[in-house]
Amino acid sequence: MIRGSTIVPERIYTHILAVNPEHPDPDCIDRAAQALRQGQLVAFPTETVYGLGAHAGDVAAVRRVFEVKRRPASDPLIVHIADTSQLTDIACNIPDLAWQLVQHFWPGPLTLVLPRHERIVAEVSAGLTTVAVRMPQHPVAHALLRAACVPIAAPSANLFARPSPTTAQHVLEDLAGQIELVIDAGATTIGVESTVVDLTGAVPVVLRPGGITLEALRAIVPGLAWQARQVKLDHATGVAAPGMFARHYAPRAELLLFVGESEAVVAQMYATGQRLTAEQKQVGILAPAEELADFADIAVHCVSLGSRSDLTEIAAHLFAGMRELDRRGVDVILVRSFDQSGLGLAIWDRLLRATEGKFIRVAAG
Ligand code: TXA
Ligand code: MG
Repeated sequence: MIRGSTIVPERIYTHILAVNPEHPDPDCIDRAAQALRQGQLVAFPTETVYGLGAHAGDVAAVRRVFEVKRRPASDPLIVHIADTSQLTDIACNIPDLAWQLVQHFWPGPLTLVLPRHERIVAEVSAGLTTVAVRMPQHPVAHALLRAACVPIAAPSANLFARPSPTTAQHVLEDLAGQIELVIDAGATTIGVESTVVDLTGAVPVVLRPGGITLEALRAIVPGLAWQARQVKLDHATGVAAPGMFARHYAPRAELLLFVGESEAVVAQMYATGQRLTAEQKQVGILAPAEELADFADIAVHCVSLGSRSDLTEIAAHLFAGMRELDRRGVDVILVRSFDQSGLGLAIWDRLLRATEGKFIRVAAG
């Protein structure tokens, strides 16, 4: 459909199949698997986030994934498999280290970048000679991939640069009318994406921290490299120079990230919330449950990230919290940083990318 000078994509009916997350109805799984084999797009839950699946051997279906997500063609997709035996159909020259990691961490939230098998169409990998592969653990993803009998290319099922979806509702917010099917199995458990490890260079490198921690990986691969991004701070404002990171995983509202010792940070967030509400701004606070009471006497929208002593809870609620505050229509979201050990590294990475690398350093009070 063409309206004026803008092309408006035709809308299609998006079917929703609700299934039990532990024991999905085989008829539902077969229907979704058949849709995938026919080249349709199916969103499905994994243990990390919902994925937008397409038959990895169907070039038209793969191209549609980029189109509906509005994802740049230069950003490669992950191929999902049901069984480790499929790995040799996807990648070639697989090093021993890959098999070691597979043995320890699959099924699970670890993606391996390996040399691409010529049978895998170049579009999946955005033309690269490498390919990213992962075997998810979620019973629904596993059943679907097994029933599909073909490898499935699947990025996160969100519009490009938006927070990844951790519920079927989030998928529908971004992609309803654009894809054929969503399998709804409730909220995902991990809430941040898989860890991506590149095994094609001289040393193994973490490209994206995620559901498998750096500590767990280093127990198997002591030489694993992780290049923490350098954030350049403006000394006057404590704010990083813009453009250090492409804005990604971001809510529509402006996100202000506060870094420092927690009491001083909460005090600074409170003062900022007070100032912004006085300027008639709608302010959202994304904070651990224990800290929400500190904001009780200012007119802000509070969303809990779960207990501050449990980074798995914080990770699980991070993207959902950003989306909830967007739904409430806030102008600005205030959030603080967490310890960067364990899952905290993935949380820090997502927060930093959502703010394009900008944060406010708070000196101890
Ligand atoms: O947990 C996850 O990984 C989820 C679920 C659905 O499996 N998927 C996901 O896909 O997060 P996506 O497309 O949103 O992120 C894939 C990441 C991107 O950062 C992409 O650049 C990187 O993996 N990637 C994919 N193929 C690559 C390749 N050949 N070389 C380097 N990086 C690659
Ligand atoms: Mg993504």
